[in-house]
Amino acid sequence: MPKKKITELKDLKIPVHVAIIMDGNGRWAKKRFLPRSAGHSAGSKTVEQICDDAWSLGIKYLTVYAFSTENWKRSESEVATLMDLLRKYMKNCLERSKKNNMRVRVIGDISRLDDDLRDSIVRLVSESSVNTGLCFTVALNYGGRDELVRAFKEMLAECKDGKLSPDDISEETISSHLDTADIPDPDLLIRTSGEIRLSNFLPWQSAYSELYFTDVLWPDFDKNELIKAIEYYNTRDRRFGGV
Ligand code: IPE
Ligand code: IPE
Ligand code: MG
Repeated sequence: MPKKKITELKDLKIPVHVAIIMDGNGRWAKKRFLPRSAGHSAGSKTVEQICDDAWSLGIKYLTVYAFSTENWKRSESEVATLMDLLRKYMKNCLERSKKNNMRVRVIGDISRLDDDLRDSIVRLVSESSVNTGLCFTVALNYGGRDELVRAFKEMLAECKDGKLSPDDISEETISSHLDTADIPDPDLLIRTSGEIRLSNFLPWQSAYSELYFTDVLWPDFDKNELIKAIEYYNTRDRRFGGV
């Protein structure tokens, strides 16, 4: 049986960029009568594993939604738990990026984060920038609408300074002012936990992404589930408006 799987895998077209809305940590914990924090902690381990799995499958870009601009609405203690987890995560990630040759980027407005967390992000991004393995992007205090607002403000400022002419604004100009500049648009966007919505994740970039929704809760997502998503991707006919 495993032999058949490998033959099938070899024949799969691997998406260059996979983006994931990691959802369902709270429900995973609830099912086990555990606090929500236990779900987030389990979920952060899944992220580490999925980076290795993605690279081993030949995925070049992986982007994960870790904290949205809307997630500040959660209780103060849940936000604090998530921020502490992120602190730990960023520290581990620096070690792992050295070991795995992984390049880490962060998208979202990190100016609202605590100074120490922001400093560790800046260090991680800068130290891993020379790496040539998986390009791993973490969306942190990210909201697609917020990203567009920031991009438009930047473009308007450039217009005012005479560096940009309104007539020259194209789709490429807008893309290049987003946090994801230089990152190709996602080919496959996955959301776990059964919710069928994008929750403000990469609205501009996902215009032509294939969408895959699974009931699996994020802490239970593994390489096998990732392969299932890629298999689904392989059944799609990407026409991009053509015939
Ligand atoms: C996703 O899990 C993690 C974050 C949004 C930070 P949730 O915390 O949203 O889990 P559910 O949706 O309540 O199960
Ligand atoms: C989306 O999940 C945000 C992240 C995964 C970070 P949410 O759980 O916050 O989304 P909604 O509230 O169900 O739309
Ligand atoms: Mg959720």
